[in-house]
Amino acid sequence: MRSSAMRDLMAVTARPEVISLAGGLPDTSTFPPQTFAAQMTRIAQESAAEALQYGPTEGFSETVDCIVEVMGAEGMLPDPDDVIVTTGGQQAIDLICKALVDPGDVVICEAPTYPGAIPVFCSYQAETIQIECDSEGMRIAELEDTLERLDLEGRRPKFIYSVPTFQNPAGVTMSLERRRRLVEIARARELLVVEDNPYGLLRFGGEPLPPLYQLDGGDFVIYVGTFSKILSPGIRLGWAVAPPPVMEKVVLGKQAADLCTSTLTQYFVREYFAEGRWREYIASLSELYRDRRDAMIEALGRYFPPQASWTEPDGGLFIWATLPPFIDTSDLLAKALRDDVAFVPGQAAYVDGRGRNSMRLNFSGSGEDELREGIRRIGRVVEEQVELYGALVGRQGKAHMPAGEAEDMGGTDSQSNPSLSISDSPEADSTVVPFRKAEGA
Ligand SMILES: Cc1ncc(COP(=O)(O)O)c(C=O)c1O
Repeated sequence: MRSSAMRDLMAVTARPEVISLAGGLPDTSTFPPQTFAAQMTRIAQESAAEALQYGPTEGFSETVDCIVEVMGAEGMLPDPDDVIVTTGGQQAIDLICKALVDPGDVVICEAPTYPGAIPVFCSYQAETIQIECDSEGMRIAELEDTLERLDLEGRRPKFIYSVPTFQNPAGVTMSLERRRRLVEIARARELLVVEDNPYGLLRFGGEPLPPLYQLDGGDFVIYVGTFSKILSPGIRLGWAVAPPPVMEKVVLGKQAADLCTSTLTQYFVREYFAEGRWREYIASLSELYRDRRDAMIEALGRYFPPQASWTEPDGGLFIWATLPPFIDTSDLLAKALRDDVAFVPGQAAYVDGRGRNSMRLNFSGSGEDELREGIRRIGRVVEEQVELYGALVGRQGKAHMPAGEAEDMGGTDSQSNPSLSISDSPEADSTVVPFRKAEGA
């Protein structure tokens, strides 16, 4: 078992004076309290006994109808019989691993990947292989090389886990071409893909792309969704959509884990969807988060040193920043916490210690002024480190490279999406992230 770096961090950042850019918190203060009160009152008056009772392991059919509606908004048409309601998307990931992974099995995911998935893969004793991401998401050419290498070793991954849209933590979105290729590979090799998509509807720029589930039709893509980011994480409602042979095992795993998902919060979702304003609420969240993303990007430009780079997501909750290779963001966090500001060190998103000079920054959970102040404080500790390093080696940290150079060194498979692979110093790792657009790279 491995500790979730983010859970540990959340305990530290609970202090009210800390500006936390660490969590993945949606801004639940935007949900109207009157709506919440009216819905809960209606449940109490009309369905108290049922809402307080156990429910079916698969979830209520009315909740599944809401899920089908949400997935429909992104162009998917799941069969309601393939859906199970889970205690958050997190439990869906856990149950999929429980159903499929034996100790020593290979699971493939992105580098960096969702930090909360790593403890799950570890607890089922999977061997996790991470495939680098650039600004177009997982590098499919590298995935193919890895699959071929595994073939030669006589090994077959149990599944490929991907967050293709507004990825946690990098904020990048897999291009349509790579989506198509990934689904083709899955179908040709009869390999399962787990698509985790909490953020697809939180888009505030660019054009929507079809989910992997839609491209595949649900034969080889298992889908994980959640109400956490589009409604509330407190209700702990998520879901998985899987073909019958997998679903059968997932249901058995769920029975053993917690019998059923909260009936009370399933009633809440049913009431909320009956009201018919869920799309409007998501639109209002997207608008709010767009302004916050812009505020964070503006602050990064102002307060981070020129050696830093970061992603500019078209949706979701996160920006991924990469610092000069001599900076270790786990050490930096200790210093930042003294200044009452927190972020997630990049290492939390890797199984093998990479990501040391990167950080995940959340822009949804704080107001614009707080975001600016948080970035200013982090920028100050980064600046101190850059100066210290400069004093020690007698020069400024040499981390900033033109895109061409970075491509040569990083071996990116996409000319149109240059990425930065910091590998010019012995202590560097190989975190690959997109260049800051403002630099015209
Ligand atoms: C990619 C991803 N998957 C799953 C989850 C888990 O969400 P929940 O269990 O609240 O649905 C999160 C939460 O941040 C996430 O970012």
